[in-house]
Amino acid sequence: MRFVNIKLTRESIQKLHEDSVNLKIAALRAPINLWHSSSFESPCAAHAAIDDYCRINIGAFSSIAVARIGNVKIGRYASIADEVRIGANEHPTDRLTISRIPHVPTMHNWNKTLPEPQATHVEKNPFAYTEACKITEIGNDVWIGYRAYIKAGVKIGDGAVVAAHAVVTKDVAPYSVVAGTPAKTIRMRFPQNIIDDLLELQWWRYSVYDMFTAPLDNIEKSIEKIREMINLGQIDPYIGRTYTAQELAEIGD
Ligand SMILES: CC(C)(COP(=O)(O)OP(=O)(O)OC[C@H]1O[C@@H](n2cnc3c(N)ncnc32)[C@H](O)[C@@H]1OP(=O)(O)O)[C@@H](O)C(=O)NCCC(=O)NCCS
Repeated sequence: MRFVNIKLTRESIQKLHEDSVNLKIAALRAPINLWHSSSFESPCAAHAAIDDYCRINIGAFSSIAVARIGNVKIGRYASIADEVRIGANEHPTDRLTISRIPHVPTMHNWNKTLPEPQATHVEKNPFAYTEACKITEIGNDVWIGYRAYIKAGVKIGDGAVVAAHAVVTKDVAPYSVVAGTPAKTIRMRFPQNIIDDLLELQWWRYSVYDMFTAPLDNIEKSIEKIREMINLGQIDPYIGRTYTAQELAEIGD
C-alpha cells in the first residue's frame, strides 16, 4: 500500500491552473492522501471533494463540478454535475456487525480507549473486507446528471448519459441513457450502426481542438470527417501533461 500525502498551497493550485497545463484541481485544496499512481491529465477541472485514501484517475477535457468522488477512473471528455456521488464505501451486510470497525480497526484510536494488549490486538488483526471500495470506471464522453448516485464498482460505458437523480447499481452500456432508481435504459443516444462507428473511432483519443474542424452538429458527417483526418494522418492522438499524485505531493513539499 502506498499512499502519498498531498499538501498543495492555494498558490501552487493557481499555478497549475494558469500554466499551459490548465489543471483546475480545486479539489486538492485541503491536504489529502491519494494512491501514488492517481493521476490528472491536463486540461481537466475537478472541483469535487475527493475521498481521503483513495485512487483517482481523471482524463483530459473532463470536468467535475462540486460532486464527491472516491476510487474512480474517469475517462476523457466526461461531464459530472453537482452533488453526484461516486465510490461511496460499502459495508459488509452478512457479518456480525455491519460497522467498518473490523476492517478499519484504526478508525477510533483504540489505543486511547482500550487497555493493552487489546488495543494492539484489535489494530493488528483486521478482518479484511475487499469489497469495501471497488474501483468505479467512467468511460469517455460520459455525462452524469445532477445528484446521481453511482454505486462503487460499476462500469459506465463510453458516451453514456446518467439522468439527474438516478441511482446506478449495474453497469451501463455505451451510448445508453439511463434514469431512475434503480437506473434503467430509457433510450440510446444513436442508432446501433452509429454507436458501432463511434466505438471503433474512439475520437476521444484526439484533442478537442482537432474536433472543431468537424461539423459537430451532424453525427454522420463528424464521424466521416474525423475518420478522414485520421486516415490522412492530419491529426495525432493527444497526450496531455499528466500529473501523478506522487508528483503533486512533491510540488507540495
Ligand atoms: C437524462 C436526460 C438527459 C434525458 O433527457 P431527454 O432525452 O430529453 O429525455 P426526455 O425528457 O424526453 O424523457 C424521456 C423519458 O425519460 C424520463 N426521464 C427523463 N429524465 C429523467 C430523470 N432524471 N429521472 C427519471 N426519469 C427521467 C422522462 O420522464 C421520460 O419518460 P416517459 O418516456 O415515460 O415520458 C435529462 O432528463 C437529464 O436528467 N439531464 C440531466 C441535467 C443535469 O443534471 N444537468 C446538470 C448540469 S451538467
